[in-house]
Amino acid sequence: MVMQVQDRLGRPLRDLRISVTDRCNFRCTYCMPKEVFGPDHRFLPRDQLLGFEEMVTVVRAFVERGVTKVRITGGEPLLRKGIEKLVGMVAAIDGVEDLTLTTNGSLLARKAEALAAAGLRRVTVSLDALDDPTFMAMNDVGFPVSAVLEAIDAAAAAGLGPVKVNCVVKRGVNEHAVLDMARHFRGTGHIVRFIEFMDVGSTNGWRMDDVLPASEILETIHREFPLVEIPPNYPGEVATRYRYADGAGEIGVIASVTRPFCGTCTRARVSAEGVLYTCLFAVAGTDLRGPLRAGEDVGEIIDRVWASRADRYSEIRTANTPRRRIPVEMSYIGG
Ligand code: GTP
Ligand code: 5AD
Ligand code: SF4
Ligand code: SF4
Repeated sequence: MVMQVQDRLGRPLRDLRISVTDRCNFRCTYCMPKEVFGPDHRFLPRDQLLGFEEMVTVVRAFVERGVTKVRITGGEPLLRKGIEKLVGMVAAIDGVEDLTLTTNGSLLARKAEALAAAGLRRVTVSLDALDDPTFMAMNDVGFPVSAVLEAIDAAAAAGLGPVKVNCVVKRGVNEHAVLDMARHFRGTGHIVRFIEFMDVGSTNGWRMDDVLPASEILETIHREFPLVEIPPNYPGEVATRYRYADGAGEIGVIASVTRPFCGTCTRARVSAEGVLYTCLFAVAGTDLRGPLRAGEDVGEIIDRVWASRADRYSEIRTANTPRRRIPVEMSYIGG
């Protein structure tokens, strides 16, 4: 039976983003800058990660409280050994209506079939530019564009499409990618979402000046390919959707800096080590792993945490707010 819970601002619990690893084989400058995530960086030790059975117990508890949508994240989730098995286990949970995964695509071409067979429905792939110099500088490990494009094709061929393609836009870095991406993916059925560079974590050197506002992104595209806004797929959708007026498909913008959407935020996040966070910008979370391993009911903890939730970071942050807090890192919490 589902027991709907609400937070202090009346927001229900609908989505769970569960991270399966804090590791990644990319070093995107806006997420895991090399200077911080270097060879000496200490990732979570194996025994501190939730096991698949433990994750399933956690997901079940969330589903019993109203979650219908589950997204597997990382770091890079496809680095987690046996990920297909976890997908199968989560897909089999009664009440999980939408199961998806956000990946950098580097291992997707070889895993797409197995993921689809295990019950994954769709996938979101990150790609920040279509030219190698820009993309390689952004992923900072020299990973080529062509391999990500192949991964997107492989995912579509495996039935994981239409693929959502996430493009984080940084002013002066990959602004030109906006039109490149729009042009390339128009008419393919895939959906590019342009994301404002966010001030997550404390290591990516975020400055308001680096943010290309969604309004500018939209103007750039609209000038070349007229756009028409379309309604959200579901209340509280993160991306604002637009279709090309000529029928060549749709795009989205995720304007979490200039047009925050905390009012409809129904997302809970669980880190790979089993810490529950009620906001992407949370400073602290609540451990579920300890209680889980002690045989306690994590459902009661979730109820208590959600009932006391009042987060709306993006709405109250202003460009001038001094960054006093050290929030958790993007690669740890999975975006
Ligand atoms: P779908 O609507 O199912 O496609 O999912 P999504 O867009 O929420 O997921 P995805 O993992 O692709 O995230 C896209 C971008 O939105 C990433 O940059 C996320 O960090 C950001 N994002 C997702 N949820 C939130 C949120 O609750 N708050 C903020 N500020 N950003 C979010
Ligand atoms: N701002 C906006 N989006 C980000 N992502 C990672 N770091 C940031 C940031 N600082 C994106 C990734 C991925 C998604 C989960 O979050 O590119 O597509
Ligand atoms: Fe890895 Fe994704 Fe972060 Fe890039 S944005 S470093 S691919 S987790
Ligand atoms: Fe939700 Fe926090 Fe993002 Fe606002 S900033 S939408 S409360 S996760």
